[in-house]
Amino acid sequence: MSHLSEAFIREIEAIVGPAGIERDPERMRSYLSDWRNAYRGLAALVIRPATTEEVAGVVRLCNEQQVALVPQGGNTGLCGGSIPDGSGCQVVLSLTRMTKFRQVDPANETITVEAGVILQSLQEAAAEAGRFFPLSLGAEGSCTVGGNLATNAGGTAVLRYGNMRDLTLGVEVVLPDGQIWNGLRGLRKDNTGYDLKHLFIGSEGTLGIITAAVLKLYPAVRSVTTAWVALPSASAAVELIGSIRALCGDRLTGFELMSRQSVDFVLRHVHGCRDPFGDAHPWYVLIELSDTQPEAPLNQLLEIGIGEALEKGWVIDAVVASSESQVAALWAMREGISEAQNHEGPSLKHDISVPVSCIPDFIETTDQRLRDRFPGVRIVTYGHVGDGNLHYNISKPVGADDARFKAQHEAIMQVIYDSTVSFSGSISAEHGIGQAKRDAARHYKDPLELELMRAIKTTLDPKGLMNPGKVL
Ligand code: FAD
Ligand code: MLT
Ligand code: ZN
Repeated sequence: MSHLSEAFIREIEAIVGPAGIERDPERMRSYLSDWRNAYRGLAALVIRPATTEEVAGVVRLCNEQQVALVPQGGNTGLCGGSIPDGSGCQVVLSLTRMTKFRQVDPANETITVEAGVILQSLQEAAAEAGRFFPLSLGAEGSCTVGGNLATNAGGTAVLRYGNMRDLTLGVEVVLPDGQIWNGLRGLRKDNTGYDLKHLFIGSEGTLGIITAAVLKLYPAVRSVTTAWVALPSASAAVELIGSIRALCGDRLTGFELMSRQSVDFVLRHVHGCRDPFGDAHPWYVLIELSDTQPEAPLNQLLEIGIGEALEKGWVIDAVVASSESQVAALWAMREGISEAQNHEGPSLKHDISVPVSCIPDFIETTDQRLRDRFPGVRIVTYGHVGDGNLHYNISKPVGADDARFKAQHEAIMQVIYDSTVSFSGSISAEHGIGQAKRDAARHYKDPLELELMRAIKTTLDPKGLMNPGKVL
């Protein structure tokens, strides 16, 4: 369904060439629904520019003709942010042809890459340069740097290295009127006024198109120890992370919590995963220690930490991986939860955060409220404990009717968000607002913050053409 004139399409084609335009409904299909098939839209056109100048040309033309743009990277987002609406009038702007590595500057510990670079390729390029790029998440084989920036992605290494915002020194952005802002400064210190890059990081495509970025590199990691630990409770996990961190400092680079329900789903659905323990336990954590020294005494440190925790009753059992394949198998259990949950029917995904100290109370209180009101729902809790960030996901009761469960979504979400806010938390710690949480954000965010956000949006994008209907 296209509401665009042939003349407009010809002008776009003149900018991006025939390889940069997609009109065939079959070939457009993968751009119009998300990974879980939870959001579906229509588009008049998919445009795939290959350079910043091409992006600028397309955006300028869309601005003149009042055509709304939906930026898209790897389309792995979990809030429907990269999916157009159902009108068929919007255009998807895919950055996946912008895959250049523009510069590696080892002395400055930076790498400059274009927005369409896949996260895993960036990690590999950093390794080739003898460095480390720490952002790591389950979708790293498909998500792009542009998407990581636009969502301020988190993942499993935030507790040591921070999220995408913390890893970024500069950005290049095509503004809604087609101007190119070259903010590709590789500076760690620059106090010349407002730090504009932070406006675009986490803006989910609503303020401009991110076309490139200068990112921080870190020293290569040369030794890693990974353990899978069974725990009696979520409060034991909070005690354990505190004591392991006190013992290991910055060597603690991963601490991922999983409920038994999460692990059950993985064992049931993810090929090749098996329980490292004979018995089932209420909770698990995956702990990763790493160091830049090849022979760092990580195993000994972990043994000391786990030994102390066993004595205190925080740990029931533990295994330390003794080969790279065992390390991969443990991470596969953790990273497989999202996929496994998809096999259990409709689910509600959340990425809330609360202060780390409140995690046990949040889980206990919210579990109780949900079980009282929605008997049989399966609560799939896992996430990044060190960041206070839980994926508090809900799968429908076994055998329940899909439509009946979907009809309860709003009410379930309200219980979870009310509880989150009562613990001074955030309704989105990682995945962003997109279209999934737009109404909830309107309800739960401070009205003054929303007003300031609207003022920024109107200033930068007065015609409202950048990803309309998302975030605000
Ligand atoms: P897309 O999905 O294409 O887009 C996401 C948003 O960014 C959209 O609003 C889009 O309009 C906008 N956008 C994309 N590119 C640009 C650009 N160049 N300029 C401006 N706006 C743009 N997220 C986490 O934070 N932590 C996790 O641990 C994590 N784990 C995941 C695991 C799995 C299995 C999956 C499927 C997803 C996971 N995600 C996670 C979510 C997702 O991978 C991230 O949000 C990722 O950063 C999105 O990147 P993308 O390139 O796929 O972006
Ligand atoms: C993760 O940490 O695995 C993702 O952010 C969670 C998800 O898929 O919900
Ligand atoms: Zn996550």
